[in-house]
Amino acid sequence: MNRPVRVLFVCLGNICRSPVAEGVFRQKVRDAGLEEFIHIDSAGTGAWHVGNPPDRRMMATARTNGVDLSSQRARQFVDTDLADFDHILAMDKSNLHDILYLDTGDDFGHRVTLFRQWDPEPGDYEVPDPYYGGDAGFEAVFAIVDRTAEALLKGLEAHYELGAGSA
Ligand code: 4NP
Repeated sequence: MNRPVRVLFVCLGNICRSPVAEGVFRQKVRDAGLEEFIHIDSAGTGAWHVGNPPDRRMMATARTNGVDLSSQRARQFVDTDLADFDHILAMDKSNLHDILYLDTGDDFGHRVTLFRQWDPEPGDYEVPDPYYGGDAGFEAVFAIVDRTAEALLKGLEAHYELGAGSA
């Protein structure tokens, strides 16, 4: 393979759901020894929190579960991300809509899906926004993200035959 598979997680603010998805997935990729094969990033469709670290409640929940988000900074999703990433994974249907709205030439729809399409227990296919709720919401998000990221990694490993002697 000539270049890494490029994976982008997208939510609204890029301070809760997509940062934890990035951090959890990055850790799983590292643990699997696949860092050189997968490029990982996250972004928000909104600009309110650009440049900020993740929400401290999300960071605390992630840290309790062994995942460090402290080096992340929020950025806004831009239309060039559509061309730059192979898999653009939206946390909810509103994010999916907002991403596709930027695909003015209808060129990249095949790259954009809901993250929870990978979830073995997908529920309503959305990662609930924990921003205005209590601590239980952050734990629930972590559990969803953890099992979905695991399934995503298994899926990408199989699809691209990662680590099977390819470089
Ligand atoms: P996120 O959560 O999309 O998971 O990062 C939110 C963070 C901030 C806001 C909304 C959702 N906000 O409206 O500021």
